[in-house]
Amino acid sequence: MSYNLLKGKKGIVFGALNEMSIAWKVAELAVEQGAEIVLTNTPVSIRMGDIDQLAEKCNAHVVPADATNVEDLENLFTKSMELLGGKVDFVLHSIGMAPNVRKGNSYDNLNYEYLKKTLDVSAISFHKVLQAAKKLDAINEWGSVVALTYVAAQKTMYEYNDMADAKAMLESITRSFGYIYGREKRVRINTISQSPTVTTAGSGVKGFDKLIDFSERMSPLGNADATECAEYCITLFSDLTKKVTMQNLFHDGGFSSMGMSYRAMRQYNKSFSEE
Ligand SMILES: NC(=O)c1ccc[n+]([C@@H]2O[C@H](COP(=O)([O-])OP(=O)(O)OC[C@H]3O[C@@H](n4cnc5c(N)ncnc54)[C@H](O)[C@@H]3O)[C@@H](O)[C@H]2O)c1
Repeated sequence: MSYNLLKGKKGIVFGALNEMSIAWKVAELAVEQGAEIVLTNTPVSIRMGDIDQLAEKCNAHVVPADATNVEDLENLFTKSMELLGGKVDFVLHSIGMAPNVRKGNSYDNLNYEYLKKTLDVSAISFHKVLQAAKKLDAINEWGSVVALTYVAAQKTMYEYNDMADAKAMLESITRSFGYIYGREKRVRINTISQSPTVTTAGSGVKGFDKLIDFSERMSPLGNADATECAEYCITLFSDLTKKVTMQNLFHDGGFSSMGMSYRAMRQYNKSFSEE
């Protein structure tokens, strides 16, 4: 249902690869709520994925950009302002990649070139996005920037590997840049810490289906899905959350506050009765 929460607003959405992507749902919902958007992804993801379908549905332009490349980002912001007829009001950073996870390298046997890639793509790219936007003065006052993260930044999660370090850095950049961008331009910056969600990036984590089941049993409200994550993003892009900044906001059905739940304990006990 549209509440026109983003009526008259313009935004850039990074990271829609296919229909499962969280960014895909955010793009659809932003437009449904009255926004005009530009979609972006790497040239290879644009070729391999389905972003053109989304662009057609959202009546949006696609501007390619590798989020690790500053020139690409400057071009993206400049072009987006031309296409949208002015500065943007919101940006979604929905980007992640971890070659060590993909190759099955354990945390005590990391390939450091892969680690650098993980940090650059999944965390430093957020700094690059913010710095490019600020230099070009591309975001309106009271604009809102959101990046997606995971609770492994705070608590060690089996098999999340070096992506946990990337997420910790992403959340730190949110605070450090949030101070400067807030003070100088009234732009707010937050991360949403989302439940495990079935997407292309998510499914790269070993034992992902079990992780989803475990966190579903642990969360009093159950896991949050991609559409619910998109709904939360929309509230943060709207004018209803103007004084929320520099926060890591858990969107996980309560998982992050739990130690043990009845449902998880019951399942755990079953493994003893089988022995
Ligand atoms: N799926 C989950 O369980 C989950 C949980 C919490 C947080 N997140 C986070 O949500 C975000 C979105 O992931 P998703 O689950 O929707 O998966 P996804 O695979 O659909 O999206 C990841 C996107 O990152 C893009 N990307 C990779 N390298 C890039 C680069 N150099 N420049 C620009 N874009 C690049 C990919 O093309 C892809 O569109 C990620 O930050 C992820 O870590 C996901």
